[in-house]
Amino acid sequence: MQTATILVVDDEQLIRWSLVTRLTDIGYRVVEAGTAAEALERHAEGVDLVLLDYKLPDADGLSVLKRIKEADSDTLVIMLTAHSSVDMAVEAMKAGAYHYANKPFNLDELVLLVEKALETTSLRREVRVLRATQAQPYSIDRLVGESDAMVGVRNMLRKVAVSPASTVLLTGESGTGKDLAAKVIHYASDRAARPFMNITCSALPEALLESELFGHERGAFTGADRQKHGLLESADGGTVFLDEIGEMMPMLQAKLLRFLEERTFKRVGGTADIRVQVRVIAATNRTLEDEVKRGHFREDLYYRLNVMPIVMPALRERPADIPPLIAYYVDSYNTEFRKRIRRVAPSAMERLKTYPWPGNVRELRNAVERAMLLAEGDELTLDHFPVVEKRTGELDESVQLPASGIDLEQLERSLVVQALQRSGWNQTRAAALLGVNRDQIRYRIEKFKLEKSV
Ligand SMILES: Nc1ncnc2c1ncn2[C@@H]1O[C@H](COP(=O)(O)OP(=O)(O)OP(=O)(O)O)[C@@H](O)[C@H]1O
Ligand SMILES: [Mg+2]
Repeated sequence: MQTATILVVDDEQLIRWSLVTRLTDIGYRVVEAGTAAEALERHAEGVDLVLLDYKLPDADGLSVLKRIKEADSDTLVIMLTAHSSVDMAVEAMKAGAYHYANKPFNLDELVLLVEKALETTSLRREVRVLRATQAQPYSIDRLVGESDAMVGVRNMLRKVAVSPASTVLLTGESGTGKDLAAKVIHYASDRAARPFMNITCSALPEALLESELFGHERGAFTGADRQKHGLLESADGGTVFLDEIGEMMPMLQAKLLRFLEERTFKRVGGTADIRVQVRVIAATNRTLEDEVKRGHFREDLYYRLNVMPIVMPALRERPADIPPLIAYYVDSYNTEFRKRIRRVAPSAMERLKTYPWPGNVRELRNAVERAMLLAEGDELTLDHFPVVEKRTGELDESVQLPASGIDLEQLERSLVVQALQRSGWNQTRAAALLGVNRDQIRYRIEKFKLEKSV
């Protein structure tokens, strides 16, 4: 377990010194404050427990207690009260103090109180993390987002999960949540108690993938010294997730199609037909139609898989999901890194909302993780997000003037139209994509006589 951080707030230096020395000796990380203002500042940097004097030069301890509890209800506060003030102690408990100690206090007793209090927080925290991660590992709510597109996806996943559909095809760019969606389908279905098996088709050579999927008989090939069940057999009653199906070799595509149509297969080197009851969820970030046209993917398999298609939309097409996703990851990294980030600066949020997120939710998650590791206060600012901070449109050699030249006006018009389309005609967002302000976008809408319907 990590060392707990304790904040000692008292304006009397001697008291502070004795507490700090003792608590540091035991091995705690201790920070101190002599005023209410300082106390709130230190608290914002992240502490687990506060020893708080009831009387401070710039405010009374009770109001500090309330502010601390407002900022983070998980912080434990032990009030240090004067002997006579029973009312004060009662008030403090009502306001959410964990306990109180009368001054002058017995240092040993106080240390015991601190230890007991910290035990409670770490338990509480553990319980919460367990609840969040284990109880419902892949409930449908794990897919964060309030955009119409995401609400639609969640409804679809719910329906598909409880339907008799034996195959599902998940498509979408990298990082849009296909893996997550596959698990969500499995755990929302009546197959949840049966296995969920997962294989990435591009990760193995064809022969190995075949025997992983369908199993093999003893002696089927050199080294096959015993019979082996494949994933389809092991997952009987459950779900097999075939990731990157677009990369599956043609011979295996044929064998998979046969299985999907007949629900039976033969192990490699075997003659017996084996019947299993599994749902196959296939995923790809390629456009399978294109792969079919190019002759890389069997058309019949494509049609068989495409009976129940679910498209995971790119993040840039649903910017409304960006703030809730950021809030979600800030919350989870607050717990994981024991940080206390409370806000994202509006200027940063504006940029985060207009950045196109080519890596989708995965990129956003990584950006928030990085920002949280960098941040020291309680706010994430633009500085913490180098990806979006960089002028996104910085042109370099990748944009080359063709030898035949271009029509600058036409190019400008085309870029403005694209920005407007991508932002759903939100002028502020379109402006941000082009690195201009809203007036400049308006001017160009006028100039090129652009209309939403076209
Ligand atoms: N709507 C969402 N809500 C919460 N987390 C999400 C959401 N979508 C994706 N994620 C998270 O983003 C990360 C990437 O998602 P995932 O691995 O499912 O993407 P993918 O579509 O399978 O990508 P790839 O094609 O690269 O395999 C994961 O950590 C996942 O939990
Ligand atoms: Mg994936």
